[in-house]
Amino acid sequence: MKILSIETSCDETAVAVTEGRVVLSSVINSQTEIHKKYGGVVPEIASREHTLAIDAVTRTALKEAGLDFKDISAIAVTYGAGLLGALLVGVSYAKGLAYALNIPLYAVNHLKGHISANYIANKDLKPPFITLLASGGHTQILKVNALNDIEILGETVDDSAGEAFDKVARVLGLPYPGGPEIEKLAKFGSPDYVLPRAFKNENHLNFSFSGIKTAVINLVTKIERGGGVVNKANLASSFQSEVCEILTKNTVQGAKNSNISTVTLAGGVGANGYLRDLLSAECKKAGLTLLLPPKHLCTDNGAMIGVCAHEEIQIGAKPADLSLDANPSARV
Ligand code: KG4
Ligand code: ZN
Repeated sequence: MKILSIETSCDETAVAVTEGRVVLSSVINSQTEIHKKYGGVVPEIASREHTLAIDAVTRTALKEAGLDFKDISAIAVTYGAGLLGALLVGVSYAKGLAYALNIPLYAVNHLKGHISANYIANKDLKPPFITLLASGGHTQILKVNALNDIEILGETVDDSAGEAFDKVARVLGLPYPGGPEIEKLAKFGSPDYVLPRAFKNENHLNFSFSGIKTAVINLVTKIERGGGVVNKANLASSFQSEVCEILTKNTVQGAKNSNISTVTLAGGVGANGYLRDLLSAECKKAGLTLLLPPKHLCTDNGAMIGVCAHEEIQIGAKPADLSLDANPSARV
């Protein structure tokens, strides 16, 4: 069954064609250059750009798969979480396509989509497994018993890890999106600045990243007011290592607590090389098997949505009807 999948939850218009866990094509039209000049995603602009791009991206995805609309058996679309206006473009277009082609429409949760990127990378992967999901909107440690049975073992109580990367990058004068920029800069520095860790002596697996962000802002202000110069590479390195350490520590702890030996990674922050290396080393030490999807499957893409729909259909998911609406705050 060939699924055409549509993802427009943020600033990527992404369409893919998948069959089972195999990606036949995956096209991503990124709006990064447009939002860069505003220092972050402008929701209204994102919606308009999706509207302009979605048809061409869809036709390119079909062409790259060597297929036509008539070869597609189902449509999958991200209905949430994400930006309302952006989601609505994908949902409306998907409904139109499903209706016109008279094929079923599957509504996919963006977070479950991120988790499902692991199924593309590891064709034999089966639950239960632990997922560290760290994106621009979410940071959670999940115990995946099945895609329709996910327990949240820990999550952020304020900013997501990606948001913290983006905000700290802005303070350091780096462009949006900040995660990859901080990673690049950190390579030239060492983690010499001491930054605070939230929930240090507490037992739960939740995160808080607003304190470290504020600490970076205060540190920069203090140094600059005193006439000093911030060593930006060292600060980027200190911030990155602190965030990645707590993400890793809680993920390994979550796996140990649940007695689950397979750990997976998902979401845009999962493309961070420092996090990938640290998580690999710590999982190895703890006797856990870490499955890392390639970096391009960690950030937003359409293929993860199609594969998620496929996996959900295997466990009984039913098609959505044409009353399907976007839900900006959908949970796993
Ligand atoms: O999963 P994603 O593409 O979109 C959401 O669902 O939010 O994640 C985007 C987030 C952004 O905050 C971006 O700065 C971060 O992922 N990100 C990274 C890296 N690449 C993307 N953060 C740290 N290091 C990276 N290499
Ligand atoms: Zn995402």
